[in-house]
Amino acid sequence: MELSSRIIQAPVATALADRDGSLTQRGVDYLEARAAGGASLVSVEGANIAMLGTGHRANLGLYRDELIPGFARAAEAVHRHGAKLAVQIQFNGRQGRQHVAFRQPVAPSSVPCMVGSPASYPRAMSVEELEHLIELHVRAARRAATAGADAIWVHGCHGYLISSFLSPLTNQRTDEFGGTLRRRAEFPLRVVRGIREAIGPDIALLYRMNGSDYRPGGVDIEMAAEFAAMLAEEPVDLIDVSGGTYEARHITFQGPWDPPGGFVSNALRIKEAVGDRVKVSVVQKLSDPEVAESVLAQGLDFVSIGRGLHADPDYVRKVREGRRADIVPCISCLACLDLFGTPGATALCATNPDTTDERRRRIAPAPRPQRLLVVGGGVAGMEAAVRAARAGHEVELHERGSRLGGQVVLAARTAPDFRKFVDYLTGQLA
Ligand SMILES: Cc1cc2nc3c(=O)[nH]c(=O)nc-3n(C[C@H](O)[C@H](O)[C@H](O)COP(=O)(O)O)c2cc1C
Ligand code: SF4
Repeated sequence: MELSSRIIQAPVATALADRDGSLTQRGVDYLEARAAGGASLVSVEGANIAMLGTGHRANLGLYRDELIPGFARAAEAVHRHGAKLAVQIQFNGRQGRQHVAFRQPVAPSSVPCMVGSPASYPRAMSVEELEHLIELHVRAARRAATAGADAIWVHGCHGYLISSFLSPLTNQRTDEFGGTLRRRAEFPLRVVRGIREAIGPDIALLYRMNGSDYRPGGVDIEMAAEFAAMLAEEPVDLIDVSGGTYEARHITFQGPWDPPGGFVSNALRIKEAVGDRVKVSVVQKLSDPEVAESVLAQGLDFVSIGRGLHADPDYVRKVREGRRADIVPCISCLACLDLFGTPGATALCATNPDTTDERRRRIAPAPRPQRLLVVGGGVAGMEAAVRAARAGHEVELHERGSRLGGQVVLAARTAPDFRKFVDYLTGQLA
């Protein structure tokens, strides 16, 4: 698979699946918008390999052949714009939700996950069950390939099933799937081999892993580097480095006060371990183009951007065109993550009201342009003025204070990334 850019889209769950796990037209629109906006690799969020692995009511699935057509529509839509489609497959494991899947979660060992409400109390699987789960990963990947995917993402991070095998904290097995790192790696490696055999040599195999679990006693960077070297012996095309588990969610999804690039040093260590055998990318707050460029300059092959492309589907095109001030910024507020977990909601974005409803909310030219007065220069008034002007109205914005941005300026004193939204809107109003 050849990509036209060194920026790839990290999977971001949108809650745009139906209750039966199928990808909706809105889900297809979300992906197509990113392809149209210049992303060379568009990623479908984690699709479950089995109903039992579901962690959310609107979780996407690849556990039945009937779910293939939604992915086929996505592949067709993304390919229309010359982009490639990667589909992520996942199984929640100990971080599963009994009240969603209606069955007790399963995991390598019976180690509860106390984060979230209700907590999750998994049951340890038998060897036969593990082997069946490997087969379910393979079948899901085959379905994605049948749908026309160009790449398969293996969700091997964030404490879900596959990464829970690697951690000595959550894998306490004494059989061939537990014990030494090599034995804890057996399940992930067999998943990788099975998938490669099923999808053939032409579809890329991408593996997301933790550079560290950020939990005492869990996977650390030296363990991760050793595992990455094992992966490099397998037919894997790219390793994407992330980090954290549900117990360290603030690390997986960093906030507006965290500096960018928190996983870069781990990714460089992993690159050192795998050399030229596998491409390595890294994720986490890399949507500032200068930061992304500096990460690539340090020797990594790709940068992987999740929320940056959630906030602006046209991110890559704007970077290419040198229109950096026009990029709708991600301010790391995590509203998308909160909403994703809210029943009935989709993963809306605080800085882009179109996100997850791309077709319906696209700004159309006003049939009868008007003169509009917007009263109040907080971010809501600013956004309204910008959007009305884009639709062709003649807009005046009035603010009684001496500065624009309202309370977001105040909030930015403790959450510095928030300032980016005020600066962006100010630039758009100029
Ligand atoms: C709402 C939301 C949903 C996410 N869903 C997934 C997912 O399905 N699979 C996955 O591997 N990572 C998922 N992530 C994690 C992102 O891919 C990424 O690792 C994380 O947001 C940090 O990178 P960023 O700063 O570029 O967003 C999700 C993140 C968010 C905010
Ligand atoms: S701005 Fe907030 S809601 Fe939008 S993508 Fe970034 S973190 Fe998510």
